[in-house]
Amino acid sequence: PASEQTTVLPIDPERPDPAALALGGQLLHEGRLVAFPTETVYGLGANAFDDQAVRRIFAAKGRAANDPIIVHIANAAHLSEVVLDTPDIVHALAARFWPGPLTVVLPKSPRIPDSATAGLPTVAVRVPRHPVAQGLLGAAGVPIAAPSANTFTRTSATTAAHVLEDLGGKVALILDGGPAPIGIESTVIQITGDEVRLLRPGAVPAEAVDAVLAEFGLARATGTQPARPAGSRAAAGTVQEAAPALSPGQMLKHYAPRARVLYFEGPAEPARAAMRQAVRDELARGHTVGLLLCHEDGPLFTGLVSGAEPPGQLAVEELGSCADLAVIGQRLFAAMRRLDARGVDVICARSLPTGGMGLAIADRLTRAAGGNVIHVP
Ligand code: TXA
Ligand code: MG
Repeated sequence: PASEQTTVLPIDPERPDPAALALGGQLLHEGRLVAFPTETVYGLGANAFDDQAVRRIFAAKGRAANDPIIVHIANAAHLSEVVLDTPDIVHALAARFWPGPLTVVLPKSPRIPDSATAGLPTVAVRVPRHPVAQGLLGAAGVPIAAPSANTFTRTSATTAAHVLEDLGGKVALILDGGPAPIGIESTVIQITGDEVRLLRPGAVPAEAVDAVLAEFGLARATGTQPARPAGSRAAAGTVQEAAPALSPGQMLKHYAPRARVLYFEGPAEPARAAMRQAVRDELARGHTVGLLLCHEDGPLFTGLVSGAEPPGQLAVEELGSCADLAVIGQRLFAAMRRLDARGVDVICARSLPTGGMGLAIADRLTRAAGGNVIHVP
């Protein structure tokens, strides 16, 4: 249906109510859409075996038809329902990371409709850890195709309120299990024979994947394939037409707030200085500015408002200690949405170390900036 009556149902994230899960499972069987929390972000789910239902996901999100969707299963025993065969390395990765935020791309089973994979011969699969996601998979009894529950190219939803904001009237049910605990999407890897490639950095650190590969004498194929070199906004505008995308998580203009994002990449000291200057310049032009800061940077950005500007010209989101990337990742998307809600013209952020979760944070900020990466030597 073009328009749905959206029900938001609170659900205990630890011990989800079986009746609520059963309702979700029944709606999925009817071919309708159910949004639910995973440990990473909220997902917009449909029965993965139901072509029409999967198409409804694309319509609801305004998602480009060349952007394939992750299929969620309850455990590795269900892999044979969705992929052609399971190489040993996948069993090893599953044993180490499932349930959890690792997605593997493998040759697809014919049971998975082409709509879910955007016509690709491969399907992305993961086993989510969140009890509500697990419970919904159990109640549905089918794999659940679910992209992040946000409007296409926008910041992923980490709360039920975010889902409602983007998809109210387009989804039958939102299971509200509180904030998504990790806040950054899964790591996506593609496995082709012996070649393993990182398609999207995410909540499982690339180093942790490498450790399992090393046990098999394998090394990850080099490069995280950043969409394209940091470049013009024009380049960003063309990526949606590039079809079919290898992995559209690679699209440059993705995870983007409405505001223009300036991302300062480089060593801490010069990056902070360049960012301070840019903030001054933007304020002087009369723009409202939002800052995504780690706690230690806070004091450096006080005193930038002279008093001549209208009140509220500067909005600050402190994400947590620069050293605690897990906390920063958990809060990042929600903070971008809050700055957007305040209507800021520009959002400024600087790069942090890229170890562990840092690689995913850098990736999301780069894409949020849609090419506006300012490299500071
Ligand atoms: O944490 C997550 O992964 C969340 C939760 C809901 O599970 N889902 C999510 O889905 O982030 P989505 O659709 O927003 O991102 C899926 C990513 C995209 O980068 C997409 O291009 C890639 O996975 N992908 C899906 N199928 C693929 C395929 N067959 N080949 C290559 N990349 C694929
Ligand atoms: Mg997404």
